[in-house]
Amino acid sequence: MKIETYRGAPFVDREEEIEFFLEWFDDVPQRLLLVYGPKSSGKTTVIEYVIDNRLLPEKEWWLKGKYCVKYINLRRKLISNYATFLHSFIFPEDVYKETVETDGKFSLKFFSLQRKVLQEIEKKERDLFEELMRKIEEESKNKRCILIIDEIQKLQEIYINSNRELLKEFLNFCVSLTKEKHLSHVVILTSNTVFIEKIYNDAKLKETSRFKKIDHLSKEKVQEWLDIEGLAKKEFKLIWEFYGGNIGRILEAIKIKKKGKDLKEFLERERWLAYTEIVDYLTEFDKEDREILLRVARKIVKDGYYPVEMIPKEEKKLLQKWAEKEILFYDPLELKVTGNSRIYEKGMEMLLSR
Ligand SMILES: Nc1ncnc2c1ncn2[C@@H]1O[C@H](COP(=O)(O)OP(=O)(O)OP(=O)(O)O)[C@@H](O)[C@H]1O
Ligand SMILES: [Mg+2]
Repeated sequence: MKIETYRGAPFVDREEEIEFFLEWFDDVPQRLLLVYGPKSSGKTTVIEYVIDNRLLPEKEWWLKGKYCVKYINLRRKLISNYATFLHSFIFPEDVYKETVETDGKFSLKFFSLQRKVLQEIEKKERDLFEELMRKIEEESKNKRCILIIDEIQKLQEIYINSNRELLKEFLNFCVSLTKEKHLSHVVILTSNTVFIEKIYNDAKLKETSRFKKIDHLSKEKVQEWLDIEGLAKKEFKLIWEFYGGNIGRILEAIKIKKKGKDLKEFLERERWLAYTEIVDYLTEFDKEDREILLRVARKIVKDGYYPVEMIPKEEKKLLQKWAEKEILFYDPLELKVTGNSRIYEKGMEMLLSR
């Protein structure tokens, strides 16, 4: 296991995932890549690491390198309608050129179009996706294009005209780029698995996409990491028990330990906070739903997961609410529900013991 420094912070492991992405990008684009996983598992961090350190590591890479990468994280954008989408995704060419010169990496994360073309698209006199296709056709002549869209669920509710849904149009465009024209890779990231399932069940995307799960670290990896950090076996056991493989939380626990604070006390406090969050959310449900949730919690605490094959529709909807609240994690491929991270399972354990 490697521990490097990335953006001034430790970057832990992920060799398998990095290799996966590099191999994927090396192949001819054939299918969409849908990256999913529990909240805060490290999806954004690993893909940004791959772009910065493996795809575009050279200086002046926009002139030399093999790849042309467009990356956008919609979470950092305020997108409420088609116009704001357009403006956060596409720069007018003059502004774009200026930013490339002053701030190379950042600016090539976006598309650029002539101001006039952009205005026509805005007025819906031109089709946005036709223009983008033209643009990518041009750029992919001597480089391999990669489009990465993080937090895609933010496009769910936006309509281009009154009936054309932006998300659907965008996904059709992505299928065309990959499966039909083989012009560009497209990677879509989200922790909203309810959303991922929705697009998976869309007949068109079933045949045209591949899933990649970015999960929390395994027990073996956590042990290896904590060994490197010089933590004792007893501390590893404690951290694994309360935090599982959640990288961000483990980093915090290591800090606590290194500052000489009481690790057990800290973790028990975190469990308490997870418990109160669960209890607080429970009050929003009626008695019947609370019973279902207690049953689910009991099963997760006992077996590590709750199977969702063949469960009634209403129960699934209920679990999805908890998943959207980021307390539970619903895996649409394995058809299992777990805590979104281990600390919530500890919170559930506390709930059941009271
Ligand atoms: N490999 C890693 N090494 C060190 N820290 C990491 C690693 N992966 C993630 N982190 C840290 O964990 C936290 C969550 O990571 P990140 O935001 O990438 O997760 P995510 O899966 O994209 O979350 P979300 O579901 O909210 O989109 C961040 O603070 C990040 O710095
Ligand atoms: Mg993310």
